[in-house]
Amino acid sequence: MAILEILQYPDPRLHLPAARVEKIDDATRQLVADMAETMYAAEGVGLAATQVNVHQQVIVIDVSPDQTDLRVFINPEIIRREGLALNQEGCLSVPGIYENVERADAVTVTALDANGARFTLNASGLLATCIQHEMDHLLGKVFVEHLSELKQNRIRAKLKKRQRKAA
Ligand code: NI
Repeated sequence: MAILEILQYPDPRLHLPAARVEKIDDATRQLVADMAETMYAAEGVGLAATQVNVHQQVIVIDVSPDQTDLRVFINPEIIRREGLALNQEGCLSVPGIYENVERADAVTVTALDANGARFTLNASGLLATCIQHEMDHLLGKVFVEHLSELKQNRIRAKLKKRQRKAA
């Protein structure tokens, strides 16, 4: 396994749309294992392949308090949305920024697991938020793009300044 580099907003590669995975093989499972290790090392609850510069529809999520409930979603599709909820979100690609985003309160998602088996999951709460956040990444969308232009400009300026300082 390996810890992968996580692209940092506003890296333009975060805006590339991810392609469907046509064949789930050992390379896919290696990617999933590396993404999980990367997510756990960064203490995140979700990671999309887009964030590690792999533009395929692969997501890992673990919202458990003790990193014991890894969920893998390949080629995910939301087939039901219910209600609306405003929750604070953060993102490993946008460190230190936490903002409220409105999303569906509950979703039903269908996807393939790391063995290529299809499953359907009803999710609510943090898991539902996380699924929608990560699926946005696969479309090339970062959560701050749900905010006003003014807020987005402020966040971009703040992060660019921080990145310059770190360089
Ligand atoms: Ni994110």
